[in-house]
Amino acid sequence: MLETARLRLRPYELADAGPTHYWQRDPEVMRHLGGVKHAELTDYEVFVRKIVDKYAAYAEAGFPWNAFVVFERASWRPIGTGIFKPLPAAGEGDLDEVEVGWHLARQVWGQGYATEMGRALTDHAFATTDREHINAVVDPENTQSAAVCRRLGFTPAEPITCRYGDVLRFVMTRRVWFDR
Ligand SMILES: CC(C)(COP(=O)(O)OP(=O)(O)OC[C@H]1O[C@@H](n2cnc3c(N)ncnc32)[C@H](O)[C@@H]1OP(=O)(O)O)[C@@H](O)C(=O)NCCC(=O)NCCS
Repeated sequence: MLETARLRLRPYELADAGPTHYWQRDPEVMRHLGGVKHAELTDYEVFVRKIVDKYAAYAEAGFPWNAFVVFERASWRPIGTGIFKPLPAAGEGDLDEVEVGWHLARQVWGQGYATEMGRALTDHAFATTDREHINAVVDPENTQSAAVCRRLGFTPAEPITCRYGDVLRFVMTRRVWFDR
């Protein structure tokens, strides 16, 4: 569990499918994430099961990667997702790069929650790995997410091609993060 002033982040569980489906089926939230893929709850439940199994296997193998449900601390209302994991390659497998990422239900945009969870995920990334830098990748048209990267102090780097396509890349180094 990761905690911030206003949020809690806890790894996805099977029972999260129902309460988190409301933003997964929102085209506006999924616009820069490849569109709505799980409009039906039953499909989404299968997807959540895959996520839970995948990260359980990573934990078993000693990797810290995870997908977190983000809750408002005050209400325990689920409002979004935070990720910390390897960047998937354009073909099979993963690149030797890790990413932090975020998405939020539309109802809670504009309150600084993405920046707040991004800070917690970045702290967590540097605390649980010895990586010298981490990435946040963004669809070139996703100005809101690029703004989150900048607010966090991530620096634009050369674009990268991965399973998400040709995406903008923002980088944070360990030295800059702990000197800030
Ligand atoms: C990307 C996304 C998470 C950004 O959400 P967001 O609400 O714009 O970002 P933040 O939570 O950091 O909030 C920033 C906004 O809140 C305002 N704000 C209010 N209180 C704030 C605070 N305490 N701290 C920081 N910003 C605050 C900022 O001024 C800013 O407003 P602006 O957009 O009018 O400039 C959201 O747009 C989203 O979920 N999009 C769909 C999914 C997606 O594309 N994810 C990214 C994939 S790379």
